[in-house]
Amino acid sequence: MKRVITFGTFDLFHIGHLNILRRAKEQGDYLIVGVSSDELNEKKGKKSIIPLKDRIEIVKSLTCVDEVFIEDSLELKDEYIKKYNAELLVMGDDWKDKFNWVSCNVKYLERTPNISTTYLKNSIAMVYKD
Ligand code: CTP
Repeated sequence: MKRVITFGTFDLFHIGHLNILRRAKEQGDYLIVGVSSDELNEKKGKKSIIPLKDRIEIVKSLTCVDEVFIEDSLELKDEYIKKYNAELLVMGDDWKDKFNWVSCNVKYLERTPNISTTYLKNSIAMVYKD
């Protein structure tokens, strides 16, 4: 059984998130997802709108996702890979070549065009700016 792992914030869950999780699952048989903690997001310079508990619950409820855990640090990628016994790390191609140092195979999948959490935040801000 091939175990695949991926990571993300999954804030304001959108179609790009669903697409990458579905395609990550197609790379193997069992999909494990690390969801970034609110503290990690702050370190990444992001402020998540949806709290961690809810982001986890949403990702966990997807049929393509088998297991979810909290990602506390970007530097611990390889520890998580080993802990969850993953054979393949999947990331969107905005991360291309950033994780070539980990101990398992890595595949960067093309992002879904024209959607991101940042885009949604900006769109909402525009609509409610007055
Ligand atoms: N992703 C994707 N296509 C998109 C947006 C995200 O494939 N249009 C992927 C990312 O490449 C990543 C995963 O979804 O592997 C989680 O991304 P995340 O950072 O949570 O979402 P973004 O929408 O990229 O968030 P932000 O705008 O805050 O960077």
